[in-house]
Amino acid sequence: MKRVVVGLIVVLAVAAGVLWYLTDATREMAKVGPLPARQPDLENGRILFFAGGCTSCHARPNDPDKLKLGGGYALKSPFGTFHVPNISPHKEDGIGAWSREQFIAAMRFGVIPKVQAANRSTNVPRHMTCCDNAYPAFPYTSYQRMSPEDLADLFAFIMTLASVEGRAPDHDLPFPYNIRRGLGLWKLAFLDGQIFRPDPSKSASLNRGAYLVNGPGHCAECHSERNAAGAILEDRRFAGGPDPEGRGTVPNITPHPSGIGGWTADDLTTVLKTGETPNFDTVGGPMGAVVANTAQIPDADRQAMAEYLLSLPPRQGFKKPE
Ligand code: HEC
Ligand code: HEC
Repeated sequence: MKRVVVGLIVVLAVAAGVLWYLTDATREMAKVGPLPARQPDLENGRILFFAGGCTSCHARPNDPDKLKLGGGYALKSPFGTFHVPNISPHKEDGIGAWSREQFIAAMRFGVIPKVQAANRSTNVPRHMTCCDNAYPAFPYTSYQRMSPEDLADLFAFIMTLASVEGRAPDHDLPFPYNIRRGLGLWKLAFLDGQIFRPDPSKSASLNRGAYLVNGPGHCAECHSERNAAGAILEDRRFAGGPDPEGRGTVPNITPHPSGIGGWTADDLTTVLKTGETPNFDTVGGPMGAVVANTAQIPDADRQAMAEYLLSLPPRQGFKKPE
């Protein structure tokens, strides 16, 4: 009997150890590795910044200047409300003290530095230690596809923007969603860590479109149905779904009669530039915010995105449950 109990304790301790190891964000930081020194291409960083729609979540709500990334937007989700953080170059409140590698780890592996509160009794000021898991409400499931060079340019561009003071409040998440450690398991299940690989049998513009839509553009994050754990259902990718913030539904953007089946590449390029659809309508709400960003990237990039969307497998659109 005693041997059974001891055996059980050993098994549980090993299981706890394995679980602790698997959910540890520190290991992932090491995966970034050092990047060769390179002169950042700020124009490339600007394009990726707008293709990526960072302002939609990180700009201050109610501030007309969308380049002030002070955060504070309350992002609703089925798991609770996230208060989007400050990613301006402010040294204490934003990401101004981050290294390029820390930024890349956040975008590719959902790993962020832990902010330690100041300790008055030991005179230790607020500081960063490694690391915590980030919530996938920050769509790193898409951003992970971006190349390290592009991420370095994006980081350099963000560092040229205004430094904004102030921190967003803590997220408002009920137990167990408030435990960041648990996200380690979520990432094991749903984050593959793969950078986009161009398909040499396809044209350069089709590859560029695939990269922009699946990487920075994170279009599927809204235009797909999700499972109970909040991960995109692969066979429903781009076929539309409920709005992740609970404001109705998001349309099917595959070339199916229930989606953009009758649209031309020009129609799609126009919607991404001006918001006007071929039905003489204008997209609004969350897509209006997307268009405010895609309007600022080169024509060739909007055309590449359109070309890629029209090459997607046609899928029957999402049907609202009765
Ligand atoms: C759909 C909303 C959304 C979009 C779009 C978005 N983010 Fe975020 N981001 C978040 C949320 C929410 C968090 C907080 C995650 C957490 O606390 O784990 C976050 C966190 C971050 C962090 C970590 C900040 C910190 O202090 O830990 C960085 C860096 C970041 N985002 C960069 C970006 C960049 C760059 C873009 C554009 C390419 C972007 N984000 C687009 C929602 C978004
Ligand atoms: C934040 C959520 C969100 C993101 C991200 C998003 N969309 Fe949308 N999209 C919507 C919503 C909501 C609508 C419906 C808008 C309306 O009808 O006013 C829409 C509409 C569209 C339409 C028009 C479809 C139709 O039938 O009218 C197209 C095309 C489209 N999106 C393409 C894209 C592309 C390409 C991307 C990536 C660059 C993208 N969307 C990213 C939410 C989003």
